[in-house]
Formats: sequence, structure tokens, C-alpha cells
Amino acid sequence: NREPLVLGIETSCDETGIGIVRGSTLLSNTIASSMDEHARYGGVVPEVAARAHLEALQPTIEAAVAEAGITLDEIDAVAVTSGPGLAGALMVGIGAAKALAVSLDKPLYAVNHLVGHIAADLLTGEDVEYPTIALLVSGGHTSLLLVRDLVSDVELLGETLDDAAGEAFDKVARILGLPYPGGPEIDRAAATGDPAAIRFPRGLSKASDLAEHRYDFSFSGLKTAVARWVEQDAARQAESGDAPAIPVPDVAASFREAVVDVLVTKALDACARYGVPRLLLGGGVIANRRLREVALERAAAAGVAVRIPPLSLCTDNGAMIAALAAQLIMSGHRPSTLAFGADSTLPV
Ligand code: KG4
Ligand code: ZN
Repeated sequence: NREPLVLGIETSCDETGIGIVRGSTLLSNTIASSMDEHARYGGVVPEVAARAHLEALQPTIEAAVAEAGITLDEIDAVAVTSGPGLAGALMVGIGAAKALAVSLDKPLYAVNHLVGHIAADLLTGEDVEYPTIALLVSGGHTSLLLVRDLVSDVELLGETLDDAAGEAFDKVARILGLPYPGGPEIDRAAATGDPAAIRFPRGLSKASDLAEHRYDFSFSGLKTAVARWVEQDAARQAESGDAPAIPVPDVAASFREAVVDVLVTKALDACARYGVPRLLLGGGVIANRRLREVALERAAAAGVAVRIPPLSLCTDNGAMIAALAAQLIMSGHRPSTLAFGADSTLPV
């Protein structure tokens, strides 16, 4: 009754991720990213991402298998993200997973990408306890979830109604003349800025919004507010005869503060409301230094334990998909039939 050896395939966005796990033990986590190809467009281009997955899958599978020190025919199951994500990108991974499962005559598990992010925590080697609140923030999603049980009871409490948090970083970076991806650039620029320099709006955080959209997020108004402030500031500077220059550090720090404030406030509000003293963070935006700092600080004050897996497990990867499938297998779930397809809006 040994733990299942699972190969996971993740292609929901711009990362081709192949991971191999045995139960909750990480054997390999290999990533090929098409991020550089999207840079000149300022965001992920679905067609470009799908084509890049097609090219990267074979070599990335080979690399993951080599790194894990196994042969393909040893695996017990294949797992793949079936959604949510970019339809074309998902389809490439699903096609590869089906082909692999059929040719190896192994069961195939279609899994949810967001729940995969939660499963990533199992691979840290530390004890994981449920229930937990999970805040997942990346270029593609901003979701707050209540996890009572990983394989049977994950509830979406709220998500972004417009831009994802990472997308907001990328769009604001563009306004400030910083390159893509904007998150790390803004993080760097903000280090020398004053977070209180400009009071930017905290989307859906007014009392009336909280009543209606308690845990939903909105970042497009914030992005517009930054654009308008930069425009008006340039006009002010021009009027006083100066050559206009954006005060990038102050705008970056003030914008970052607004995003972080909303994310942490809502996450900890959920912890309090549901009586859950645990908060799991995931997604690429977790790399943000201020987000980690504020989350740890305010959570400590609220008596909430914060878990932040290493960044290689927080960003999109195949290991988290394999880890989730391993849990499904160990809890007796049946494999998927070959009839499933990509579901870009797959609910948890
Ligand atoms: O999870 P991830 O690697 O993949 C996608 O969503 O595709 O997340 C990437 C996103 C980008 O929007 C990027 O700007 C953002 O995460 N990001 C950050 C930071 N590092 C990456 N956002 C804020 N601060 C950072 N330090
Ligand atoms: Zn993701």
C-alpha cells in the first residue's frame, strides 16, 4: 500500500509545469516559461502561450522524469489541470496528459488549478492543518477560499470582479514606464518610496461594498486612479514650468500599499468570521515583499498562523497538480474518463 507516484501537468497560463511526487513527497518540479515572449505585449497572449506549451511539453516531461530519477512506466497516474485558465493553453496540457495516460495505460486525473495551489502546501514537508483560509494571488487570479478539506470541501469566498492583483501590478507598471512583468519592478521601485504619499482607493472595501461583496476584489478602479493621478501630476508639473517626471517610487509604494491593504484585510476578516486561525498564501504575487511583511505582521496580531510555501511552489507548477491528484487517489477518488475537456472557468 505504497504512496502513489504521480506525474502532474500544468499549462493553464504561461508556465509549462511538470512535477512528479510520491504521495506528498516532491521528486521533481520542472518549469518552462514563455513569459519572455509575452513581455513586449505587456501581458500573456493566449495563442503564444498555447504554442509555447506545445513546444515545451516533451522536453519538460523528460527533464522532470530525469530529475526525479524514475522511468515513465513506473508512474501510477497522470494528473492535469483542466481549469480554470486559458482555454487554448489548457487544451495543450490536457491533450498531452491523455496521450501519456493512454500510451502508458495509467489512470488520468483532471484537477482544479486553484485547489492545486492549495495542495502545494503539502509538499513543504511540514504538517498541514485544515481548516485554513487560502489567499491565491497571481497574474491570472485573485481568490479567497475556505478549505475545510482539500479533496472534498473547498469553498470560494470571493474573487476579483475585474483585474487579478498581479495584472494590476503589470498594468500600473506600464503606466509608470516599467517593464513587464511589473510586480517585481514595482516592488523594487517602492522600496525607496513613501507608501503614505498618495492615498489610492481600496476597492470594494467601503462598509457598503463589504456588506454586498464581502470577499470579492476589484483592482481596475485602483489602476484608473493611478493613471489619473499620474496625468494630473504631470499637468501640475508642466504648469509650474518643470519638465514632467513621474515620482515613480512614491506612486509605486502607495499603489502597492493599497493592494496589500485590501488583500490582507479581507483575508484576515475571513479568518475571523469563520473562526479559522490559519492563512495559506499562494500565487506569484506572494513574492511581493510588502505583502509578506504586512500579512505576517497583522496575522500575528490577530493570532493567525501564516503559511507561505517556497516561491517555486507558489507560482504555477506541475508538482502541485500531482500532489492534489495523489490526495484524490489516497482518499479513494475514481480517475477521470477521457471525455473531459478544458474548462476555462472551472469552479472549485
Ligand atoms: O503565479 P505567477 O507566476 O503566474 C501567472 O499568474 O501567470 O504570477 C505572475 C504575476 C505577475 O502578474 C507578476 O507581475 C506578479 O505575479 N508578481 C508580483 C511580484 N512578483 C511577481 N507582484 C507583486 N510583487 C512582486 N514582487
Ligand atoms: Zn495559478
